[in-house]
Amino acid sequence: MKILGIETSCDETAASVVNNGTKILSNIIASSSEMHAKTGGIIPEQAARQQVKSIIPVIQEALGKVTKLTRYKAYGEKNSVTRLFNNIVSPEIDAIAVTVGPGLIGSLLVGVETAKTLSWVWKKPIIPVNHLVAHIYANWLEPEVKGKKSKNKKIRKPEFPALALVVSGGHTDLVLMRGHGKIQWIGGTRDDAAGEALDKTARLLGLPYPGGPSISKKAEKYLSENSEFKIKNLKLFPRPLLNEKNFDLSFSGLKTAVLREVRGKRLKEKDIERLSAEIQEAIVDSLVEKSIRAIKIFKPKSFLLAGGVAANKRLRKKILSKILEGGLKAKLHVPEPILCTDNAAYVASYAYFNYHPIPWKKISVDPELTITDLKNL
Ligand code: KG4
Ligand code: ZN
Repeated sequence: MKILGIETSCDETAASVVNNGTKILSNIIASSSEMHAKTGGIIPEQAARQQVKSIIPVIQEALGKVTKLTRYKAYGEKNSVTRLFNNIVSPEIDAIAVTVGPGLIGSLLVGVETAKTLSWVWKKPIIPVNHLVAHIYANWLEPEVKGKKSKNKKIRKPEFPALALVVSGGHTDLVLMRGHGKIQWIGGTRDDAAGEALDKTARLLGLPYPGGPSISKKAEKYLSENSEFKIKNLKLFPRPLLNEKNFDLSFSGLKTAVLREVRGKRLKEKDIERLSAEIQEAIVDSLVEKSIRAIKIFKPKSFLLAGGVAANKRLRKKILSKILEGGLKAKLHVPEPILCTDNAAYVASYAYFNYHPIPWKKISVDPELTITDLKNL
């Protein structure tokens, strides 16, 4: 079954065709993040305008059987709905899946209204998708083929019960999955999300948006020599709630601590690299500690990382070493980095494994959706 996924919850316009929830046939992403880098963060109105410009050509290209992953800046204005309808009369897809929330209302509306229109015009079933849960399904996608070596690389499918840590720009949640659609929230942030903390503290260091990759690059530089010794001494910033016997996290204090550290100082490149490593380690430590605690208590068969922050190399490495060190049985699954950040392939995958089409007229956006909101979906 081929599903066309559509994702427009924030500043990425993405469309992808996925076969049987695992094989990516096309995966197109147009991002307006460079534009937001100039303003240091997303301006919702501008993100929505870029969505309007990009949505039609991105869907068109995804349906054009492109096999490689392509990443664009937002498309120009010359493409129109007419062009899409003229070129693609009846695409070879079985259904359409679209992110309905959470996200920015203007951005979400562009994807949802386009998907509803296409569902009606093409007479295809449509499945509404929760963006946060969909992130987890990046773990079901086969890695993109890069060169001959990885040609036979098949993905080990996650087994249930699974624990998932979803770490994105706006959310940080730990959930227990007893099966597809059976999701129980067990913990998460009480205030800022991990990605948000990275984006905000990067700004304090004068690093460009999005902050996660910027901080990660600088931290890697700092840790390129004597990394073990240096990591042991990364203790500058707080790791709140670590001693509490729950799965709660908190990142808002980090912002204040970083501000206190940098205020009135002229930072040299070396300071920025060291502080980036400090910030990254504080966030990674908190995420890993609470995840390991949850693995010990719930004893899942799989542990799944998901969301943009899951692309972080240090997080991936540390969670693996702690699972091994602790002799824990949970198998770690991490998506390819490019599949961690927003794309539509996981939207299509989610819809395959949670196939609940509903009449297009009943589909509407819900910017405030939480990770356990699967009602009406
Ligand atoms: O899931 P995502 O692409 O979008 C949302 O749904 O929010 O996550 C975006 C977040 C941003 O905060 C960004 O700074 C962070 O993911 N991020 C990273 C990395 N790549 C993206 N954080 C740490 N390391 C990375 N390599
Ligand atoms: Zn996301």
